Amino acid sequence: MTDKFLQEFAREVDEGLSDTPKRLSSKYFYDEKGDQLFVKIMGMPEYYLTRSEFQIFSEQTDDLIKAFGVKPGENFDLYELGAGDGTKTIELLKGLKGYQFTYKPIDISEHAIATLQKRISKELPDVAVEGKQGEYFQVLSSLASETPKVILFMGSNIGNMLDDVANSFLRQLSASMNTGDKLLIGVDLKKPASVILPAYNDAQGYTREFNLNLLDRINRELGGDFDRSKFEHAPRYDEETGLAESYVESTEGQSVKIKTLDREFKFEKGEKIFVEISRKYDDATIEAIAKNTEFEIVERFYDRDKLFSDIVFEKAG
Ligand code: AVI
Repeated sequence: MTDKFLQEFAREVDEGLSDTPKRLSSKYFYDEKGDQLFVKIMGMPEYYLTRSEFQIFSEQTDDLIKAFGVKPGENFDLYELGAGDGTKTIELLKGLKGYQFTYKPIDISEHAIATLQKRISKELPDVAVEGKQGEYFQVLSSLASETPKVILFMGSNIGNMLDDVANSFLRQLSASMNTGDKLLIGVDLKKPASVILPAYNDAQGYTREFNLNLLDRINRELGGDFDRSKFEHAPRYDEETGLAESYVESTEGQSVKIKTLDREFKFEKGEKIFVEISRKYDDATIEAIAKNTEFEIVERFYDRDKLFSDIVFEKAG
């Protein structure tokens, strides 16, 4: 971990735990252990998101490629923001056999990028790959080039941003794109709490581990003394707003020391740290985040059960 990353992590933890209500950023879920747990979550029967989007990518590959407007023999860059383990994208990459492009996955996790690069060079040795580690907002400037672009932002990763952050992100993304470039955004759709809540609290306990790993990470990297047996994973979902939120709840009154910060934080019994938003969308909320951007919808794709949607946008001139 670089000094700069650790400083930023320490600053954000300090700020978040000093706030009322307390909060931590879900982007810090993804260390090596967090990446492994997220892969487990994606394989859980309750977590339908990955399966649904995989279905779109594997069953509608040719239609997706048509919506991207790319042609064999014409060079383009295929970016993926928050690439993860690439299982869904590999379906698309197979469909792009014979096309001339460079696959440019970007992920906050160094470990995820390294693993993905290895996987692609093994499974699809003909695909040119240039992976990059970085945060979404930081890597935007590296997108600016004349080469035609298709940008993938899959997995309902956008749902981990509050609406105003998502809107500002899309505006900045659009500013680094050229007329005619395409953007695919994967969004999870609103549905009953009886489906959403188990997706964020699987019976095997991987999601619980994933959330509590954030406390372990603070212990490991910032010298914290969180006792995870005194905290619980507490998800909730509002069917009206489509907001799925995860909290880490203190099960007793306690204080936690963090050496790097030289500080102690007090927790009441039942006090919650807000750790993640996983927004669920409908047409109105999609329009709200795309408002004031130069994106126009080319086509919407759905899985067979209409649980998930991939929307292809074009940057208008
Ligand atoms: C990465 N992201 C879209 C996942 C989600 O569904 O919000 C992260 C996750 N959190 C708990 N389970 C999965």
